Amino acid sequence: MNWLTGRFMLPPQGSAFADQVDTTFLGIYWLSVVLFWGITLTTLYFAWRYQYKAGRVTPHQTHNTTLEILWSVIPLLICVGLFFWGLNGYMKYAVAPGDAMEISVTGKQWLWEFTYPDGSKTINDMHVPVNKPVRLVMTSEDVLHDFFVPDMRVKMDVIPGRYTQVWFTPTVLGAHTFTCAEYCGKDHSGMKGIMTVEKQEDFDKFLATGGTEWETYRDSGDWAGWGKLQYERKGCNSCHSVDGTSSKGPTWKGLFGKTETLGTGTTLVVDDAYLQESMLQPNAKVVKGFEPIMPTFQGLLRNHEIKGLVAYIQSLK
Ligand code: CUA
Repeated sequence: MNWLTGRFMLPPQGSAFADQVDTTFLGIYWLSVVLFWGITLTTLYFAWRYQYKAGRVTPHQTHNTTLEILWSVIPLLICVGLFFWGLNGYMKYAVAPGDAMEISVTGKQWLWEFTYPDGSKTINDMHVPVNKPVRLVMTSEDVLHDFFVPDMRVKMDVIPGRYTQVWFTPTVLGAHTFTCAEYCGKDHSGMKGIMTVEKQEDFDKFLATGGTEWETYRDSGDWAGWGKLQYERKGCNSCHSVDGTSSKGPTWKGLFGKTETLGTGTTLVVDDAYLQESMLQPNAKVVKGFEPIMPTFQGLLRNHEIKGLVAYIQSLK
């Protein structure tokens, strides 16, 4: 009977107010089920019970005051009750506690950028400490996006030229998916990532160094593997292929050591220094045939992440 008593259809509850959101939703849902079947079955029964029979005379009734009052007042009370139930939840949802940690969220075609209180940034990879209220202050650099974290019951439009806010208290450690919930162009489906809810000490470590995940790669010496992860996480994959196909930016396959012709006509050999410069000052030396559209990753990539990316590019023969 789990489908009846449980929270079927709903994702796991990851935040403090998820339970109240679900209870409200399921309350309205079951009320609708009862009303739908109650009305449908009564209608069918009456149609059968009072069907035409030769010789049956329909009694004449003008009105029934008691009945009319009842069918007006009961639905009114239900609607007023639902309103205050919803309002109560909305008031909690609307105003963040004063001690909430603020993370700013920027949506752009087609990635999410997160800026933490200490100024460090991540892309498509969000970290929050468990059991601490978090307030998201969000805006868009281009079109309408929508930040949606199903497990947290958080969903809010992200609007160019405006700031919108949501807050929540994550209560469940581990990975929770977030996504863009507003169709925003060709690669809308790529605007998704993982919110990692972790212990305060792990969160502090993440801000300082990139977290325990990085340590695993460092200890194994797998720089190319670390770089591949950054390639997917930081959104490099939306413009650079690794299989030789041309996209908005040059492919990374066979890039390292290649002689490239720049837009200015000069040539250079792709090495560590050029790759690093291209991540931090992308428009300094743009390869011929490509638009200078790459955003700077200054402040967005830690040194070990740059090193990983260079190693990854080097590994793509
Ligand atoms: Cu951003 Cu869809």
